[in-house]
Amino acid sequence: MSTPSHQILSPQIPGYQIGPLLAADLPAALELWGQTAGLVLNESDTPERLAAYLDRNPGLSRIARSDQGLLVAAVLCGHDGRRGSLHHLAVAADHRQQGLGSALVKSCLAALAQAGILKCNIFLLAGNEEGRQFWSSQNWSPRPDLEVHQQRCRLP
Ligand SMILES: CC(C)(COP(=O)(O)OP(=O)(O)OC[C@H]1O[C@@H](n2cnc3c(N)ncnc32)[C@H](O)[C@@H]1OP(=O)(O)O)[C@@H](O)C(=O)NCCC(=O)NCCS
Repeated sequence: MSTPSHQILSPQIPGYQIGPLLAADLPAALELWGQTAGLVLNESDTPERLAAYLDRNPGLSRIARSDQGLLVAAVLCGHDGRRGSLHHLAVAADHRQQGLGSALVKSCLAALAQAGILKCNIFLLAGNEEGRQFWSSQNWSPRPDLEVHQQRCRLP
């Protein structure tokens, strides 16, 4: 597999460049995620663990930079061979409502489709009404028949 680089990806939004989220972008992405209401960072969000996630899912996650070179939006994207997932979609407050969030999602879904993945899941924090409205506007459907259950993985 070729190593992802900072190429410009579609769709294009005037004033911004969309590209892959690379390990070198993680400090700026973590700063954006850390200051974004509606997202929660946890022990899985260290630079090392996130770099491992990017290695396992090369070329799928996305950022947007302003023409001034500032990272203003980011999303993690990966798949397990069956379903895709998006995590931590965030657009900096001053850059919202210009199509960046939907453009990053569209770019991720195209990359997942290219990888042969048919469906993608997102995890929405209960009470994140802004996020709910965004996903609804993008034709994402809730699955009230499913719940997320979780347990810690431990060595035997
Ligand atoms: C959700 C978020 C990523 C949207 O980013 P964005 O760049 O502003 O979104 P877009 O400009 O692509 O919006 C696309 C559509 O989503 C809808 N939308 C976006 N933000 C919305 C909001 N705050 N309330 C209602 N609808 C909204 C609109 O219908 C919009 O279409 P329009 O431009 O025709 O009105 C951004 O608000 C954000 O970072 N929120 C905080 C983090 C978060 O909640 N992330 C989701 C975690 S699951």
